Amino acid sequence: MSYETLLLEIQERVALVTLNRPQALNALNSQLVGELNQVLDRLEADPQIGCIVLTGSAKAFAAGADIKELADKCFPQIYHDDHFAQADRIAARRKPIIAAVAGYALGGGCELALMCDFIYAADNARFGLPEITLGVLPGIGGTQRLTRAIGRAKAMEMCLTGRMMEAAEAESAGLVARIFPRDRLLEETLKAAHAIAGKSLTAAMMIKECINRVDETSLSEGVRFERRVFHSVFATADQKEGMAAFIDKRAPRFTHR
Ligand code: HXC
Repeated sequence: MSYETLLLEIQERVALVTLNRPQALNALNSQLVGELNQVLDRLEADPQIGCIVLTGSAKAFAAGADIKELADKCFPQIYHDDHFAQADRIAARRKPIIAAVAGYALGGGCELALMCDFIYAADNARFGLPEITLGVLPGIGGTQRLTRAIGRAKAMEMCLTGRMMEAAEAESAGLVARIFPRDRLLEETLKAAHAIAGKSLTAAMMIKECINRVDETSLSEGVRFERRVFHSVFATADQKEGMAAFIDKRAPRFTHR
């Protein structure tokens, strides 16, 4: 299957998905959101894929929702089409997804990065939720996920002023896991993705499920949830293999089952 707004490259158990609308700085129009969901559906269903990397260009991860597509919409259209609910499906994906962000990650582009499991950023990355400058507000979870990621004070200030945050501040605020020089971003992200994809996919998915639970529950319920999942991992072949390999002093051969 080919896509007009994305590039897909498979490297062993890692899928690299590159947003590819350079003429619009990868603005998220409905075609791109649709194709992104199609490709993620396909990658999630493919047992050979253990980790997904989502990236953009050196200038822009994505400069937001496509303003030209949205400008003339009226309430009934935007309410019924609701294509940003489709974008929000990315947050419900079960396999690990890393965002590799260089350049602008603004508005819906920043929200897209926030829906990934963690963000690696190039030193030229700039994050922002500038919707207020357009007379609107974030609509793909930005007010919620940015606040959870960096706290109320910085999230409120960013959303109300629309200012951009540079990579160094994004790292110290906890929005970004690590920063790399821009020419090493993809290489370092793929290295991490291959490391994740080489582990047990079942364990990785369980870890993701447990960490995502943090936003939905109390500490005691979250700990109880984690313990139940921990018990269940002992039903997997990968637990037997991982522990046996440690005892035998050899590398594990996970079957992701
Ligand atoms: C549509 C966009 C776009 C966008 C850039 N372009 N961002 N088109 N939607 N979000 C287009 C420009 O119109 C231009 O096309 C081309 O990409 C290059 O952009 P320039 O502005 O010429 O580049 P530059 O001067 O380098 O400025 C880069 C920029 C600026 C600072 C990132 O483009 C910018 O401010 N973009 C908008 C950022 C933004 O407001 N995002 C939030 C969108 S609202 P032409 O054809 O003119 O050359 C949103 C809501 C989410 O995301 C919630 C939805 C429910």
